[in-house]
Amino acid sequence: MSAVLNSIKDSIHPHAPAASFGDNASGLSLENTGRFAANAKRLINCSAVDVNQLMPLKYKWAWEHYVNGCANHWMPTEVAMTKDIETWRSDKLTPDERLVIMRNLGFFATAESLVGNNLVLAIFKHVTNAECRQYLLRQAFEEAVHTHTFLYIVDSLGLNEGEVFNMYREIPAIAKKDQLEMELTAEILDPDFDTQTPEGVQTFLKNLIGYYLIMEGIFFYSGFVMMLSFHRRNMMAGVAEQFQYILRDETVHLNFGVDLINGIKAENPGVWTDEFQASIIERVRQAVEVEIEYAHSCLPQGVLGLNADLFRDYVQHIADRRLERIGVPSQYGSQNPFPWMSETIDLAKEKNFFETRVTEYQTSGTLSWE
Ligand SMILES: [Fe+2]
Ligand SMILES: [Fe+2]
Repeated sequence: MSAVLNSIKDSIHPHAPAASFGDNASGLSLENTGRFAANAKRLINCSAVDVNQLMPLKYKWAWEHYVNGCANHWMPTEVAMTKDIETWRSDKLTPDERLVIMRNLGFFATAESLVGNNLVLAIFKHVTNAECRQYLLRQAFEEAVHTHTFLYIVDSLGLNEGEVFNMYREIPAIAKKDQLEMELTAEILDPDFDTQTPEGVQTFLKNLIGYYLIMEGIFFYSGFVMMLSFHRRNMMAGVAEQFQYILRDETVHLNFGVDLINGIKAENPGVWTDEFQASIIERVRQAVEVEIEYAHSCLPQGVLGLNADLFRDYVQHIADRRLERIGVPSQYGSQNPFPWMSETIDLAKEKNFFETRVTEYQTSGTLSWE
């Protein structure tokens, strides 16, 4: 190592050994080990010190998800809430309709933070690939935008923020969902955790499946159905539009998660045992029951043509679709009682969200410091 590099090291950490600042996950080494080829990259446990080098790309899907995420940029404050405020203050909504809205705001308001924290504190460190990290940074920002959305809705409608942001502790059906997720984050944050053993890789995959497939791919979807049902009735259109934006983002999050999980599987074939798959099925089945309980808590009597029994079929239907995407056999064979949701997802992909936009990004004003 050159004298210049040693002096940089000494100024940061005077007693550090001369070889390297850290492990491969941090990439804090300037030792010249030669230029690497794209095929030396690994999703986890990289062998080359490549976490700082985006190029050459190996996982083109990760870069494509990043570009798709950026193309969907939006901010909650761009959505007009005037009509929603009028409706919320009027007597147009029944107590049951208000309950559905409040429960979903309460669940999402903190679920978005749980996802963001798991991403930054648990996932990021162990994904040792620059293009995936580029996507994770974009996703982390989007989760912050989603949390911002719920604060914006709470503020606009004059809701009690203490009530909304504490539901994850105070409403048992929400707490059960979050409990399933929090224990997965805690496993990765254990100081003894690493991905060097097959068991470690399995624990990491369990976290990815728990967040990308179960939280963002199952737990979010009953809420999307309930809130988008208001949109179909032309009620609470501002709130529903924000849920549409979030649905569009979450579709990309889920797609990235599926590619990441399948990529880690392919690079570590020994971990995808029958026993491990059985544990995944068991966890998804547990999540489905918890989610059905959540639907019951939101819809004790049913509103807008929705009732809790329909959600049993819906949650089972989407759980099957998620399992299939990571090569696990579907379990339920239930029909989708809300076929219009597939249409809504397709529309969300195609809709030009920018046509009603009032704010321009990167105007000369925002770039000026004067
Ligand atoms: Fe989100
Ligand atoms: Fe997400």
